[in-house]
Amino acid sequence: MRKIRIGVLGSGKGSNFGAIAAAIDEGRLAAEVCVVISDVADAGILKLAQDRGILSHALPASRFRTKLEPEVEAELVRILREAQVEFVVLAGYMRMIKEPLLEAFSERILNIHPSLLPQFPGLHAWKQALEAGVPVTGCTVHWVDAGMDTGRIIAQREVAVFPGDTPESLHARIQVAEHTLYPEVLAGLAAE
Ligand code: GRF
Repeated sequence: MRKIRIGVLGSGKGSNFGAIAAAIDEGRLAAEVCVVISDVADAGILKLAQDRGILSHALPASRFRTKLEPEVEAELVRILREAQVEFVVLAGYMRMIKEPLLEAFSERILNIHPSLLPQFPGLHAWKQALEAGVPVTGCTVHWVDAGMDTGRIIAQREVAVFPGDTPESLHARIQVAEHTLYPEVLAGLAAE
């Protein structure tokens, strides 16, 4: 079976990347992670990639908080192209995607968000869910467009909110759902 070539972008601990890599190892996902890139030099996701012998890159520090300088994003595109990536997988990547990347990988960038979009876009979606008092939240895999968590939804998984949940306990339960949903969505793309 053909393997899809993916590049993973993340800013944090990389548990979604770990789940994707495990799905590949276990034969549940016909994919190859060609490169892992982070905007955070000491992010756990880079260490996980290195431990697996996967090509990894740290981008230079940015003077902006929520986006990259256009020239840094152009460099990111260059790295992804050089690695012959077909799909860009955002896994806890904390910056907005701008034109250089959006144009280069149009309709080929995915994100996972810890809520049932369009509910609770933006930061700390699990806290937003707790504060809103909803009985059910979840996670969403969607295509990335220029907006904040606004792209077309591919798949969602519900997660119950329990009385007594803390932000941490709820986020942990949402992450368990993320770790099955993201590999399943990617496997669906690989089967197309
Ligand atoms: C996930 O909860 C994801 O939904 C959000 O950022 C978190 C990343 O976690 N976008 P990890 O780095 O994959 O562990």
